[in-house]
Amino acid sequence: MQKSISKLLAALSAILLCSAIYAAEDSGINIRHLSNEQNIIDLQPAGRYLLLPVEDEAVEGKVYLVQDNVTISHGLNIRLARKKVDYYVPVDLSAFHGRKLQMEIQAVPASSVCWDHISFADEFEMQTSPEPAYHHIPPYGWMNDPNGMFYQDGVYHLYYQYNPYGCTWGNLHWGHSTSTDLVHWKHVGAPLAPDAWGYIFSGSCVVDCHNTSGFGENAVAAFYTSSKPTRWTDCQAQSIAFSTDGGYTFDKYESNPVLISDLKDFRDPKVFWYAPGKHWVMVLAAGQEMHIYSSSNLIDWKFESAFGEGQGAHGGVWECPDLVELEVEGTGEKKWVLICNINPGGPFGGSATQYFVGSFNGKRFVNEFPEETKWMDWGKDNYATVTWSNAPDGRCIAIGWMSNWQYQNQLPVFGYRGANTIARELSLYEQDGEVYLKSGPVKEMDAARSLVTEKKPFPVSGMDCKKDYCLPEDGVFEIELTFRNHGAEKFGIVFSNHDGESVKMYCDASKGKFAMDRTESGNVDFSVDFPVVTCAPVPENDELSLRIFFDRTSVEIFGNGGEFVMTNLVFPSSPYTGIGFYADRGAFDVTSFKVYRID
Ligand code: FRU
Repeated sequence: MQKSISKLLAALSAILLCSAIYAAEDSGINIRHLSNEQNIIDLQPAGRYLLLPVEDEAVEGKVYLVQDNVTISHGLNIRLARKKVDYYVPVDLSAFHGRKLQMEIQAVPASSVCWDHISFADEFEMQTSPEPAYHHIPPYGWMNDPNGMFYQDGVYHLYYQYNPYGCTWGNLHWGHSTSTDLVHWKHVGAPLAPDAWGYIFSGSCVVDCHNTSGFGENAVAAFYTSSKPTRWTDCQAQSIAFSTDGGYTFDKYESNPVLISDLKDFRDPKVFWYAPGKHWVMVLAAGQEMHIYSSSNLIDWKFESAFGEGQGAHGGVWECPDLVELEVEGTGEKKWVLICNINPGGPFGGSATQYFVGSFNGKRFVNEFPEETKWMDWGKDNYATVTWSNAPDGRCIAIGWMSNWQYQNQLPVFGYRGANTIARELSLYEQDGEVYLKSGPVKEMDAARSLVTEKKPFPVSGMDCKKDYCLPEDGVFEIELTFRNHGAEKFGIVFSNHDGESVKMYCDASKGKFAMDRTESGNVDFSVDFPVVTCAPVPENDELSLRIFFDRTSVEIFGNGGEFVMTNLVFPSSPYTGIGFYADRGAFDVTSFKVYRID
């Protein structure tokens, strides 16, 4: 009897096993768990993508592709879902269609929920929300710094630090988007992926018009930092890739990296042509300095000088440099601006962009105004700002990453993390013997707007802030305001929604500052570093003009034609549709009031 029962059980389990194998073979996915959190997936690709379930808070697992018992990919770091699935990321297997493949997954326990949710699909689309309407974001996944921007044949190319395998930092590729007007962006791929030398960190592109490199006339050369974790620390070196199809696909140079060092922080090459010396220049972030190199062929680089000791802010590592020559408005005189991103050490904590104004002779930069630390943006969310190479008509156009390293991995958004600022035109102006950067929205933003509300000038006095709910319902607009102060100590604007959340802005005439307060702007609890008041110095003057761009989760304020700029993220429960004004002691006039929709 006993024997026949065990025979029956064996037969049953054989049937069950067969059906399991049948199901697995049918789905093209068979998962085996080994010891020590080691797993093997046998794959018969039955769709373009293998969808892997991710949990943002999970510890990273290591994923390798294996063919004929040989590892054929670099390890992807993926937060495979252990307790719950937040979303899926695609691994593109189109190159292996119809062929057997294996995947080795390390450091993911067999008890994780991910194993029940792996599948094939021919299409992949991720819902992203809340989504800005006119700011560039990645198609899905993580984005940080803008990289390698260049202009060619009517197209602005924008690359960016991209993780296509999760919404947190890791697996750095260069994602790629294009635009013909700096407002509407199209995702066109991710042409640079991690390789034997590591992640593809930030860098720049140049158009090699005269084929100095031998990569081809008008070839696009991309310079990036190869960053590889070693047993001790990251190993950073500079590498090159080149494109002969206008930046859509790249071949990596066969003898990368081309510039090495024993420094721990050695990255973010910005390359440009120095016409007077007829040579290329590379500026590199090296610890808390910027190092300048020169080259005649883009491949061999000679160290020229270091800049930084005793200059500007040093509260953190210097990153993402840029060096551009600009005219000082109304003088005909030109000066060089060294853009220097720093993390941490920004004026309101975390990351920020400082700059130096001075001279450059092709080899050495000299800061002509060393007394004062100059900040490019007085908000908390403008970082890694760099400019377009080869921009038309001598324009100098910059763009930043609209976030802060203090809380970027916690932002309360879904399906992506990271947005860019709007593109900004840079120029210089003089004030009280100092020279400062001015950054205004590019003129293309004007073409994208249409007037929806205009009010006649009106006076404001007293603290009673009457609200008018006249702002677009979708939270996507620009508001242009001018003010004339009549002795008010402080005059302010409150943007509010029907959920009792608000963003306050005020000008404190007695202290010479303009401030934005986001402490009650909506969801501020995801990080202790998020609720802040940011301030910009403003000259004593009774006139003030503001262009303020709202785009659901961001506020960008351009004051006095771009003489001060403030960029801050906000996460309101509903759009701010109300606006009110108040004056603390005294009165002021709102001399113009215009609201625009942005296309
Ligand atoms: C700046 C930065 C760069 C580096 C990149 C890595 O935000 O730290 O220095 O190249 O991000 O993603």
